[in-house]
Amino acid sequence: MNRERLALMKRWKASVHKSALRGELTKDPVVLSAFYAVDGPRCAGLEFYAGRHSADVIARLSRSDAALLRTLIPWGDYDQAPQVYMSGNRVRLDCAWPAHLAVKMYRLSDLPSRPKSRRGDWVAGIEETGRPVRPRLNRMSTPNYLFAGATGSGKSVALLNAAIQLSTDPRNRLVLLDGKWGAGLGPVQHLQGVVGPVATTLSDAKNALLWSIAWMRERYENGACNAAGRAEGEQRLILIADEFQEFGAQDDDFTALLSSYVARCREADAHAILATQHPSQAIIKDGTIKRNLGGRVVLRVTDSDASKVAVGAETPRADYLQDQGDSYVIGQNAVTRCQLCYVDQGDVDRAETGQWEFDDFPELNGEDIGSFVDGQFSCTMTELGMATVAAHLGEGRDLFTQRVNARGFTAGYNRFKRMTAMGSEILDAIEAEGYELRQSAERASTMALVARNDRELVYA
Ligand SMILES: Nc1ncnc2c1ncn2[C@@H]1O[C@H](COP(=O)(O)OP(=O)(O)O)[C@@H](O)[C@H]1O
Ligand SMILES: [Mg+2]
Repeated sequence: MNRERLALMKRWKASVHKSALRGELTKDPVVLSAFYAVDGPRCAGLEFYAGRHSADVIARLSRSDAALLRTLIPWGDYDQAPQVYMSGNRVRLDCAWPAHLAVKMYRLSDLPSRPKSRRGDWVAGIEETGRPVRPRLNRMSTPNYLFAGATGSGKSVALLNAAIQLSTDPRNRLVLLDGKWGAGLGPVQHLQGVVGPVATTLSDAKNALLWSIAWMRERYENGACNAAGRAEGEQRLILIADEFQEFGAQDDDFTALLSSYVARCREADAHAILATQHPSQAIIKDGTIKRNLGGRVVLRVTDSDASKVAVGAETPRADYLQDQGDSYVIGQNAVTRCQLCYVDQGDVDRAETGQWEFDDFPELNGEDIGSFVDGQFSCTMTELGMATVAAHLGEGRDLFTQRVNARGFTAGYNRFKRMTAMGSEILDAIEAEGYELRQSAERASTMALVARNDRELVYA
């Protein structure tokens, strides 16, 4: 442990302790106990037990831009406001080290051995005590991760690090999307397990997503999604997307597809790691996406609103983090302050390369999009037309399903239900406007939309 940092932490502890004894932190003097100092790479932490006085202590220390807390910190030059929050049942104070004491880079190659991914995990970085932090893509609590942070905070480097390590498990198949023209993920597109080139245009991104959903659907259809049908050594699909909001902003179909993917991927052992500089735009818009991003790596964000969205809670404050990989890694219940590993081209070069399965993701058309998107409802015009006719014929969901299947489309139960309901709504609307569906007088096999004056208007 660095001696200068150690001395500073001792002084900090003493000043907090004395301040409590003087009665500055609560109404009456109080003895704080169980002090614990944390010598993090970027910031120093001080934890203590204040029992039922905790709320008081936090209120006083954080009041007026943490004015009192600042007087207790024995160094002045920190570039981010100090924080005070609860950590478990203890009060926790955080303050960035002065520049000359901070450790601003920890390389992947600084780890004692090169990490190999085995169970969908990777070493994201080191926590304050120097231990590696290992997020994991699992089927339960964290099937998917969101990497959120302002431009320059270190998202792309964090994605590269994850991709390099995840590519070491031959079971992993990686699909790469990049909303910034490949600037982020281009370097890793030839690693082992990557199925095709990094998708950088909207149409490529949609094709890549459709391919991923098709992969997942095949899993479901083969019964591989229930425990009994699961084989040892089975493949795991991992979608890695940098600045994915770029695609969603241009196109609702993309958002609908992504939503459909993250909502159902866990059972298929398919996963996503999605990075964005605009968490509020990118995920608030779609509740399904938000709910299914249980794992988070939150880097520095620009303001408290962005912090709330990215962290999913008021504290800790991600807008108080620093650039260059300073982060909170948030898993099921735990929040860990983490210095993310730095990787560069050298780390990419040391990793195994592989062969793509194709040079382009297969083209899939609009009709496919409709039938792929279940959770987030959308359907094609043909399907809507058929639903309306089905409502007119009083067919109900089962007959309608048969008829749509006969035309070569498939869809899930819920979508058929929604389409059937929509068909009746459209029919009601048509009738309210003074039209009705009837057997066509001109062509017996067709339905016609007929106005009150009996002139046929439109064939359905
Ligand atoms: N973990 C890290 N450790 C040290 N420096 C980093 C780390 N991550 C990023 N940086 C530095 O910050 C710069 C921006 O990182 P980048 O990943 O491109 O940010 P973002 O994708 O969030 O805009 C990098 O070029 C690098 O110099
Ligand atoms: Mg980036």
